[in-house]
Amino acid sequence: MPSPPPFARWLDETNDVTQVFLAAGQVPDLVNLAGGLPEPALWPVDALADLAARAVREHPKEALGYPPIDGLPALRDAIAARFSTVDLRLGRENVLITTGGMQGLELIGKVLLDEGDVIAAQTPAYLGALDAWRPRGPRYRPVRMEEEAPDLPYLMRGAKFTYTVPNFSNPTGRLVSVARRQALVKAAQETGVWLVEDDPYGALYYDCGPLPRMLDLCGGAPYAGPVIYLGTLSKELAPGLRVGWVIAAPEMIAALTTAKQGSDMCTSGLSQQVACMAFETGLCEQVLPDILSLYRARRDALCAAMAEHLDALFEWEVPTGGMFVWARARDARLDTDLLMREGLAHGVCVSPSSVFDPEGRDRAAVRINFTLNPPDSLAEGVRRLAAASRAVLGRSQAAGQDRSPQAMIEQ
Ligand SMILES: Cc1ncc(COP(=O)(O)O)c(C=O)c1O
Repeated sequence: MPSPPPFARWLDETNDVTQVFLAAGQVPDLVNLAGGLPEPALWPVDALADLAARAVREHPKEALGYPPIDGLPALRDAIAARFSTVDLRLGRENVLITTGGMQGLELIGKVLLDEGDVIAAQTPAYLGALDAWRPRGPRYRPVRMEEEAPDLPYLMRGAKFTYTVPNFSNPTGRLVSVARRQALVKAAQETGVWLVEDDPYGALYYDCGPLPRMLDLCGGAPYAGPVIYLGTLSKELAPGLRVGWVIAAPEMIAALTTAKQGSDMCTSGLSQQVACMAFETGLCEQVLPDILSLYRARRDALCAAMAEHLDALFEWEVPTGGMFVWARARDARLDTDLLMREGLAHGVCVSPSSVFDPEGRDRAAVRINFTLNPPDSLAEGVRRLAAASRAVLGRSQAAGQDRSPQAMIEQ
């Protein structure tokens, strides 16, 4: 029998680190600090079960039929109302319901990217976004959010869109300042380049009140600005609902709707109806205080354990929200791709920086999640990570491998 036609070329461009990392789920007793998963005990199981039963009984047409491609009108209206302010007037035509925030990313790639187009991206960048856009073969131009004043219009000009996660970025956990948000909006308005504000962690502020969204800073009545805002219920309610949304100018919503038609035709009506009722009954507001206090305590437990065991090996900032700590090796010889594999042998899994680098080159940092594990497991995971780091570093020192910045320049 002749061999079947080959798979598409982009499949060869994925990183094998991701596969090792996915296989980690099979290792017994592993402390998984690698994922970005919420704590299942926080899901309001009974309330969601009641809403799901009511959705089917009271709204069978919406819950069990094919909903419109762009979403149930009542849910689109509810989201438009939730996000409208005095200066930002949103209508149903500004909202598309998506299957998780992830689908919003994929659809943006579908409607904006041709082979080789440029994305100006906050770097390091969310792995799921890189995966969503990989089949379209984009080129990346890094935009560093912590730097004071690089010329943003210069970086954005010629790109199809700018990608940012201003609230507690995945992977770095960093919060983008208000001044920087204003500068991004101004540059988007000046250049006409779309500005993607991906915001799954926007409710997870542990130490201060929320900063204004770039969508809010843009304003408009009716809204027709360059910000494409992506929201989701995954971190505030439950990821299994797979309900997300895009808020954007009507012409962008229309294009994304055309793209969604060829992706999944529509998001589950049952999930959308449940989401609608969750908004009506205030369920998200009811569960948020418990989410914040549990995650804040876990963030503190992780950072305390890191200060005790990892201080000599890594440097990091304590995040003020979100789900991750980003730790950079003090010694560049601590290769974090190797550390991920060594960590598995020591019973701990972290995400290496290479998977968040569009070029796959950064091998000196790790992303550590603090939401999934209780404090004692976090502490045990950190102890194992310290042991694994010393083993990797010891081996590379013994091999005389010098990856100090000076040596890299000289090589
Ligand atoms: C930055 C970012 N964007 C989007 C998503 C997608 O989330 P979901 O598809 O569950 O809504 C995630 C999930 O972790 C994320 O971290």
